[in-house]
Amino acid sequence: MRISVIGAGYVGLTTAVCLAEIGHTVCCADNDERKLTLLRCGQMPFFEPHLEEIVSRNCSAGRLRFETTETAVTGVQAIFICVGTPPLENGDADLSAVANVARTIGQRAMGHCLVIEKSTVPVQTGQQLKRQLQLYASKGLQCDLVSNPEFLREGSAIEDFFHPDRVVIGVENEEAAAQMQEIYRPILEQSCKCPVHTECAQRRKPAWIVTDTNSSELIKHASNSFLAMKISFINMVADLCEAVGADVTKVALGMGMDPRIGPAFLNPGIGFGGFCFPKDVQAFVRIAEKAGCDFSLLKEVERINKRRIDRFVEKIRRELWVIRGQKIAVFGLAFKPNTDDVRFAPAIELLHTLVREGAMVSAYDPQATEKARAACPDVRYCSSPYEAAQGADAILITTEWEEFSKLDWRELKKLVARPLVLDGRNMFSRAEMTARGFDYISVGRQSVSSMGQVHSASLEHGALPDVELTLSSKLPRAAKIERG
Ligand code: UGA
Repeated sequence: MRISVIGAGYVGLTTAVCLAEIGHTVCCADNDERKLTLLRCGQMPFFEPHLEEIVSRNCSAGRLRFETTETAVTGVQAIFICVGTPPLENGDADLSAVANVARTIGQRAMGHCLVIEKSTVPVQTGQQLKRQLQLYASKGLQCDLVSNPEFLREGSAIEDFFHPDRVVIGVENEEAAAQMQEIYRPILEQSCKCPVHTECAQRRKPAWIVTDTNSSELIKHASNSFLAMKISFINMVADLCEAVGADVTKVALGMGMDPRIGPAFLNPGIGFGGFCFPKDVQAFVRIAEKAGCDFSLLKEVERINKRRIDRFVEKIRRELWVIRGQKIAVFGLAFKPNTDDVRFAPAIELLHTLVREGAMVSAYDPQATEKARAACPDVRYCSSPYEAAQGADAILITTEWEEFSKLDWRELKKLVARPLVLDGRNMFSRAEMTARGFDYISVGRQSVSSMGQVHSASLEHGALPDVELTLSSKLPRAAKIERG
């Protein structure tokens, strides 16, 4: 099928290259000329595993090209709108880019065309879009409006495209549903070759969910908000664990084994970030408000998340006593591993706080350094974790990059001024870090500070602070907790 994708950002570019990879002829458009030039030269505007090789392969095969929006909206059978919907001051999604694209499509496209809204938008946007398309249709455009929310995660977006759990579409008629099915057929049938794995472990066919456009739009916001809620929930449980002397990892394990809860998104830490969860939760609260529903549950999710950095800084302060003048090494800047995206990244907020408090911060990230430098210039950016750790009074782990699980801690111990790790992502266990000679503070797991104080109320309540709990692997169904 001849398809255009408008917007060459994280969602649009991934969607465009993957549609080309499954055999469609795709034109990817953006109004940023600089980005188009980069892409035509085979350079990626952001880091996403496997993206570059797929762009290169499909451009060479003639299935993928990069054009302006005006050119892209003509002569195609389907147009995916994947432009940004950033938050406005009041928390609403800014739909101006979506509206501009709709106007361009209306003014330039001819004949029959599917217009597919993939940007994350408030419920009822599809209806507005349809109206806009009709109002500006000057060349006899006949279009069907489809909502097709995306569930790709940055860092594993290509894999997610090829192995989705579900494909959701919101349509107004059966013809549009049939055309969407045609577009996604190789994915729905799992008949295409996945570019990520040589042998795909998962060949499960995704669920095909057909709804009205309003429900489809709600599915996206409700899904992201629910996941954010799960993270804030486990973060509160982590705080409680610290207060009473329990281990959140074990609590999450025990909870997650209930299939009604599930183990995913129960990792506590310094909070959720990125361009999706924070803005989508905010937008969902506003959507509900406008519809007369008080979604204060989600306001609390936001509030809990905003407090995560303050809480982490309190731990740093407790360890270092005075933050001003201390050398602090920060490992990880991206909002999560395998991306260079620092938008609403907790690590960046932490950098700002530490700099404001007068710390001398050295930071390292495998991919996000340049974007972090632009967001927070008053930090020394290093080309390795070892350089960042030189003379440090504390090492902070703020993004769980796999690279950090392979660090040479013996070497790091020689480099630092003080062997102290504050792990905001629970990458390690206290036992292993203590064996490496480091004081170790993490999230929601009982921690003993270098001052010999237990960071929980457990001592007051007479619990044993130093007990490590291990889960017996021999008992898969009835999990048993043992004292190790
Ligand atoms: C999220 C959703 O997972 C995707 O399904 C959705 O398509 C996407 O938003 C979007 O709307 O475009 P993404 O923002 O790429 O994807 O990242 P996630 O993997 O969901 O992580 C979001 C944040 O939550 C990260 O900062 C991560 O560190 C944090 N997180 C995640 C936790 O703190 N704990 C967890 O257990 C899981």
